[in-house]
Amino acid sequence: MTTANKAFGLLSAGLLGLGLLATGPANAADDGTRIDWGPYKVDEKRSGYTYAGAQTRAMQDDEFQNPAFLWLERGMDLWETADGAANTSCADCHGDAEESMAGVATRYPIYFDDWGKLMNIEQRINWCRETQMQAEPLKWESDALLGLTAFVKNQSKGMPIDVAVDGPAAPFFEQGKAFYETRRGQLDLACTHCHVDNEGNLIRAETLSQGQANGFPTYRLKWQSVGSLHRRFRGCNRNIRAQPYPYGSDEYTNLELYVTWRGNGLPVESPSVRK
Ligand code: HEC
Ligand code: HEC
Repeated sequence: MTTANKAFGLLSAGLLGLGLLATGPANAADDGTRIDWGPYKVDEKRSGYTYAGAQTRAMQDDEFQNPAFLWLERGMDLWETADGAANTSCADCHGDAEESMAGVATRYPIYFDDWGKLMNIEQRINWCRETQMQAEPLKWESDALLGLTAFVKNQSKGMPIDVAVDGPAAPFFEQGKAFYETRRGQLDLACTHCHVDNEGNLIRAETLSQGQANGFPTYRLKWQSVGSLHRRFRGCNRNIRAQPYPYGSDEYTNLELYVTWRGNGLPVESPSVRK
C-alpha cells in the first residue's frame, strides 16, 4: 500500500466510523437502561455517568467496588507523609483535608498570578511540593499524583462546579474554546463534532457523551487504571489521528478550563468509573 493509499484507508475508516453514527435510545444509558438522573443532569448538561451502563454506574457508586479508591487511599496516605527538604506533609499546612480542601476542586483551573497563566489541581499540588515542601514534583500519571488529585477532588464530591472564566482567566478561556472548536488530525474533526453535534449518538460501539470533566481523575475499564483529564484529551486527539499535546501543557490546561466550564453546575464526581 502506498503512503497515500494508507492515509486514504485510515481516513475512510474514520469516516466510515462516523457514517455508522446511529441515534442512541433517548433518555437512556449506553446499555439501554433508564436511570434516575438525579444530580447528574443540570439543565442540558449531562455527566458521563448518565451515559454509562448499569454495571459501570454501580462500580462507581460503591466505594468498595470502585477501583479508583485504591489510588485515592494512596493519596490519603501521601497527604500525611512528610517529604522534601522541608520535611513537611500536606497535612502539616492544610490539616484535615475534609475541611481545608472542601470546595477547592469546584474552582480549578484558576488563573495564578505568579505564573501569569492557569493552574489546575495537579499543577497546584506540584507547586506546593516544589515551593512549600522543597520536594520533587510528582510525575504526570504517576499513581502518587493521580492519588493525591483524586483525594483532593473527592473532598468536593457532590458540590457544583463553578470555575471563573472572566477577568484574568478570560484570554485563556478563549484559547481553550478555540482549541475545542478547531478541526485537527487526519480525520479533520473538532471536539465539537463529537461531543456537541453528536452527543447521544453511537460511534462504533460507544455512546458519545458531552465529554464532561467532572468525574476526573477517572478509572477507565479500558485503561485498567485511573487516568487524568489530560490523558483523556490525548486519547481523543489520537483517535482522530492528531498529535497529542504533552501532559500539563498550556494548550491542555486552557482546554481543561473550557471543558470544565461547559459543566459548571454539574457535581464533582471524582473519582468516577468509565468504560
Ligand atoms: C471522533 C469523536 C471524538 C472527538 C473528535 C473527541 N472525542 Fe472525546 N470522546 C470520544 C469518545 C467515543 C469518548 C468515550 C465516550 C464518551 O464519554 O463520549 C470520549 C470521551 C471524552 C471525555 C470523557 C468524558 C467522561 O465523562 O469520562 C472527555 C473529557 C472528552 N472526550 C473530551 C474531548 C475533547 C476535549 C476533545 C477535543 C480535543 C474530544 N474529546 C474529541 C470521542 C471523541
Ligand atoms: C508549607 C505549607 C504547605 C505544604 C506542606 C503544602 N501546601 Fe498546599 N498550599 C500552601 C499554600 C501557602 C497555598 C496557597 C494558599 C492560597 O493561595 O490561599 C496552598 C494551596 C493549596 C491548594 C489550593 C487551595 C485553594 O484553596 O486554592 C491545594 C489543592 C494544595 N495546596 C494541596 C497541597 C497538597 C496536596 C500538599 C502535599 C503534597 C500541599 N498542598 C502541601 C501551603 C502548603
